[in-house]
Amino acid sequence: MAISTTVAICLGAYFLIPAMLYWLLPRDPTIHPRKRAIVLVLGDIGRSPRMQYHVLSLVETGFLVDFVGYTDTAPLQSITENPDIRIHEIKPAEKLSLPRGLPFIVVAAIKLVYLTKQLYQILRSLKNAEYLLVQNPPSLPTMFVCYIFTTFMSRRTRYIIDWHNFGYTVLALKLASEKNILVRISKWYEHWFCRYAFAHLCVTKVMAEVLVRDFKINAFRIIPLPDRPAIQFQPLSAEAKADLFATSTIFSGFNPATDKVVITSTSYTPDEDLTVLLDALSQYDSSSTPEKPLPKILTVVTGQGPLQEQFLSEVSRRSWSNVQLRTAWLPAEEYPVVIGAADIGVSLHLSTSGWDLPMKVVDMFGCGVPVIARDFPALSELVVPNRNGLIFNTSDDLAKQLIDVFTTPQLLRTIQKGARVECGNRWTEMWRITAGPVFHIPNREDLTEVESSSSSDDEY
Ligand SMILES: *[C@@H]1O[C@H](CO)[C@@H](O)[C@H](O)[C@H]1NC(C)=O
Repeated sequence: MAISTTVAICLGAYFLIPAMLYWLLPRDPTIHPRKRAIVLVLGDIGRSPRMQYHVLSLVETGFLVDFVGYTDTAPLQSITENPDIRIHEIKPAEKLSLPRGLPFIVVAAIKLVYLTKQLYQILRSLKNAEYLLVQNPPSLPTMFVCYIFTTFMSRRTRYIIDWHNFGYTVLALKLASEKNILVRISKWYEHWFCRYAFAHLCVTKVMAEVLVRDFKINAFRIIPLPDRPAIQFQPLSAEAKADLFATSTIFSGFNPATDKVVITSTSYTPDEDLTVLLDALSQYDSSSTPEKPLPKILTVVTGQGPLQEQFLSEVSRRSWSNVQLRTAWLPAEEYPVVIGAADIGVSLHLSTSGWDLPMKVVDMFGCGVPVIARDFPALSELVVPNRNGLIFNTSDDLAKQLIDVFTTPQLLRTIQKGARVECGNRWTEMWRITAGPVFHIPNREDLTEVESSSSSDDEY
């Protein structure tokens, strides 16, 4: 009797105590049932399309995403309306009111401390996420903060850098010198702290080569993930085009039967010399004679940025009779529509490093619009002359190519066809195949029966 009671009590305790503990003890609040990723850009979220696409791809594959960045302009609706995405605002250091007349180095230091503190506070509240995906550049102070975060505060978090360019080349352009001590420090800093990342995504194959050669990063940790058009960039139907021409103020006075639309988008930064476009347009304008008239061109320049005022005053000094130029800042939903209406796009992007590629060209291809692009080393990974566009160096080249394209229908048709081919090769599939494994996401092909393999797979 006594023994069986003891046994019963022991057995009961053996099963009950863990069960009670399980019910009574508080759950660890940091363990989430779903995978979490932090996506960080020290820039305006609305103007960081590639980071927005990363976020959407992560959410589509089941992640909860904390999206950290500035919130100057509205991101895509699919981001703001998605309950699985939380946006965390960084307040830009530019809004700090500092006394005038401080030396550059002091202002820079104060701004760095201000940003570091904010990043630290935001990240601290997001501990234990599985992944931290960070855009570079800017690398100061993000790379350092991310290193501290993933090494000391949240060790389970895997730190992944998405290389859009190199921070020190952007700084060198800003300071107009390669040899400036700040440029050298920033180069050292970037070389040093990028090594702590678990993996590296980058926008071109040449950039991957530079990361291996100059940054001494293990090649197997680097995954080139070229920009591809997102789903909202689609060719415009003839009806939608006609509708746009009839209703949009950008196109008021435009005659679709005879006139041509040239589009360029810009962020009015020093790495794009818009004067080249203006010079080419002037040349185009004066090349049209009564005997041999050229089609009228409406040039639409979309975007926002620091050098916009300067550009507008330069435009106002030109007088054209055959060419018109209009500027616009378009919401994310309207931008693809206006691009889709163009006969041809122009890209003036001149990479600071030579190793990144202009996103706007990718967007234009998404809309099936061919592109005349300014030449630099990586460009051939994207634009193939006479197949999906043309490549130029000088305003003379550009003027000549505009004349060629608008007087040789065969040429325009050929490159338009080439741009349509590009348009079939999309971000979502590319992301799953190349970036997916970094985030342990199986390819769709591994999950389901092999679907008809798309022609894009073997290209990258
Ligand atoms: C542009 O200039 C570079 C360097 O001079 C040259 O290698 C390249 O072929 C030129 N590209 C075009 C399209 O003329």
